[in-house]
Amino acid sequence: MDMPMRVTVTGAAGQIAYCLLPFLARGDVFGTDQPIELVLLDIEEAQTSLRGVVMELEDGAYPLVSVIHCTSNVSEAFVDCDVAVLLGAFPRKLGMERRDLLLQNAAIFKEQGEAIHKYAKRSVRVLVVGNPANTNAAVLAHFASAIDKKQITALSRLDQNRATSFIANELKVSPSVVKNVFVWGNHSNTQYPDLFHAVTNRGPLPDWLRDENFLREKFIPIIQERGAAVIKARKLSSAMSAANAVADHLRDWFAGTQDVVNMVVCSDGSYGIRKGIFFSFPCYCYGNGTFEIVPHFPWDAFGDPYIQRTKQELYKEWDQAFATLLPKSSL
Ligand code: NAI
Repeated sequence: MDMPMRVTVTGAAGQIAYCLLPFLARGDVFGTDQPIELVLLDIEEAQTSLRGVVMELEDGAYPLVSVIHCTSNVSEAFVDCDVAVLLGAFPRKLGMERRDLLLQNAAIFKEQGEAIHKYAKRSVRVLVVGNPANTNAAVLAHFASAIDKKQITALSRLDQNRATSFIANELKVSPSVVKNVFVWGNHSNTQYPDLFHAVTNRGPLPDWLRDENFLREKFIPIIQERGAAVIKARKLSSAMSAANAVADHLRDWFAGTQDVVNMVVCSDGSYGIRKGIFFSFPCYCYGNGTFEIVPHFPWDAFGDPYIQRTKQELYKEWDQAFATLLPKSSL
């Protein structure tokens, strides 16, 4: 058995955590030889509920879980952290503008970034899930300046899984044979789900799936609005599928994969996206928490307006978040 890995999960009393924690505890993410110490962070008001989650974890008698520690203290949560899964975020309330949500969460991710900077291991890997995930990750990366930005990612795998599954259903094949369906940009309804490079084990997609009307009227809006459709049906946001995507993202990042996967990562200028912006790109994962943006999948003229829209939304989110977080002189 390896040394225990210290995994911090924030928003641990929430619904995604409830679905995710069993994946982590069973070894479905970091492997069945990898013991873990779980550090569960949530706000003070959620501590009673969090204790119930811990009771259930204990009742699972998971051999790989060596320690479970609960806290509402942000500094304590990140001490010696190897992996941080950041689910906790301020929820959007009725009548709340996206800008207010952005600013409220920017403050949370600033504080967590500073705590990671001070207390986490320098080798820490961070996955941001709480929304607005891309901009939260950018804020965190800025304030965790001791941590290499390539160690900080956010979740767009749920969007890629949704798009891949949609195509598999249309073709009546397993999602495992559908490759290179990508979702670019922001994890919001401006994201661009892109079939231009998609293939199956039978070759390129049939023409009717590439038809511009089908893409414009059906595929793209269905994927962009899938989260809202789940909320409408379930009266709750996606949790099972989100936890599954978090597990996929982390497993691939740590174990590596043959396939190209979507991750929200810090732009190095690839594809003309401004450096520092956290953008969903196609990535190869090489294992041990390493990845590279794959440069071989340019979008076509049809895709370009969609990319411009999601890119501009992210630039605006960046300006709004950093205008309040940074002293005017540094902007
Ligand atoms: P939830 O509302 O069930 O749980 C959120 C938890 O975070 C609550 O227990 C809350 O007390 C806690 N929390 C709030 N502020 C916190 C803070 N400052 N520090 C630590 N914990 C804090 O929400 P759910 O369904 O678990 O979703 C979590 C987040 O993930 C939401 O922001 C949601 O929008 C986002 N999400 C992102 C997806 C993606 O693909 N990037 C997909 C689905 C959800």
